[in-house]
Amino acid sequence: MSAPDEQPADEVLEVAALPGEDQVEASLRPARLAEFVGQDRVRRQLELVLAGARRRGQAADHVLLSGAPGLGKTTLAAIVAAEVGASFRATSGPAIERPGDLAAILTGLEPGDVLFVDEVHRLARTVEEVLYPAMEDFQLDIVVGKGPGARSIRLDLPRFTLVGATTRTGLISSPLRDRFGFSAQLEHYAPDELLAILLRSARLLDVTIDRAGATEIAGRSRGTPRIANRLLRRVRDFADVEGDGTIDPAVARAALEVFDVDELGLDRLDRRVLEALVDRFGGGPVGLTTLATTVAEEPETIEDAVEPFLLRCGLLQRTPRGRTATVGAYAHLGRPVPAAGSVVAPRTPGAVPLFEDGPDEA
Ligand SMILES: Nc1ncnc2c1ncn2[C@@H]1O[C@H](COP(=O)(O)OP(=O)(O)OP(=O)(O)O)[C@@H](O)[C@H]1O
Ligand SMILES: [Mg+2]
Repeated sequence: MSAPDEQPADEVLEVAALPGEDQVEASLRPARLAEFVGQDRVRRQLELVLAGARRRGQAADHVLLSGAPGLGKTTLAAIVAAEVGASFRATSGPAIERPGDLAAILTGLEPGDVLFVDEVHRLARTVEEVLYPAMEDFQLDIVVGKGPGARSIRLDLPRFTLVGATTRTGLISSPLRDRFGFSAQLEHYAPDELLAILLRSARLLDVTIDRAGATEIAGRSRGTPRIANRLLRRVRDFADVEGDGTIDPAVARAALEVFDVDELGLDRLDRRVLEALVDRFGGGPVGLTTLATTVAEEPETIEDAVEPFLLRCGLLQRTPRGRTATVGAYAHLGRPVPAAGSVVAPRTPGAVPLFEDGPDEA
């Protein structure tokens, strides 16, 4: 399935109205599956799910999208609606506080509509229970009245497609998970995919960049399209102010140095954590709280915002006794590697496994 001919290849979807979303980010969202870069397996599977539904003239099965922030869940949800020619309604788990809020949303749907529920793992239990029959049988059970006079009535709902998104698959209850007909796990992107995304974004933003300049940014984007697009905008600022607006590798490197993004994509805090671990604690093991206090941050910040990427790069390890730096961490900071046996070797010998959980891994 490819984008229908009447759709220009670079049409950007009008989803600027999504709550709390940056306009520029919205303007860079691919509108159709054919423009969505990478995630080949998921794209192929989704293509089949949507083509099947279109062929039968029915609403597509419910879709669950999981993956780290910025990998394209919201983008794909909007694409589902665009590909089946349905309207797109967006809400989120925490926004639906009571069963009545959900009832109001569901009864307002038209046949075939796509209802996007972001952070679906944060739905209240009472709301989730109303959602089950709605997803499964397109029926809504609501209680009218209070006390002895209360009675339950059942309403028929139009057939709709629920697209749920979550960054935490593990937190979705299994009854909810089971009601999605198709689940996809988005993975981090490989450097060549990020390169393609950057070249596309540069075209849309009217930025002059050469392939090598874009490659430089792609390598520091942590496998994440949102970060790639953000770095592109910062490098563009630098290029506009300090140069003639053109981005080549030298401009990209100079700009990213100003914005404290190193060759691996680590930022200041990432490096401070790594330096504390190596220089103050001799490579560890050190407890999370101690490490957090040393860099004057909350343990949650370290655990949620810093460690996942350091782990993914093979620079840090979590052990039962605490956090330890790997040989790769010493090398990355330019510190002499201590004698063998005193630090943990990276899981993959040799190169630092930057995109070890990239799309190529099944
Ligand atoms: N496959 C892709 N091809 C091109 N651009 C992409 C792709 N995936 C994501 N993007 C870009 O990255 C940005 C972030 O994507 P999106 O908002 O869909 O991520 P998300 O998974 O919903 O993140 P969050 O968990 O924070 O809600 C979008 O503006 C979009 O332009
Ligand atoms: Mg999102």
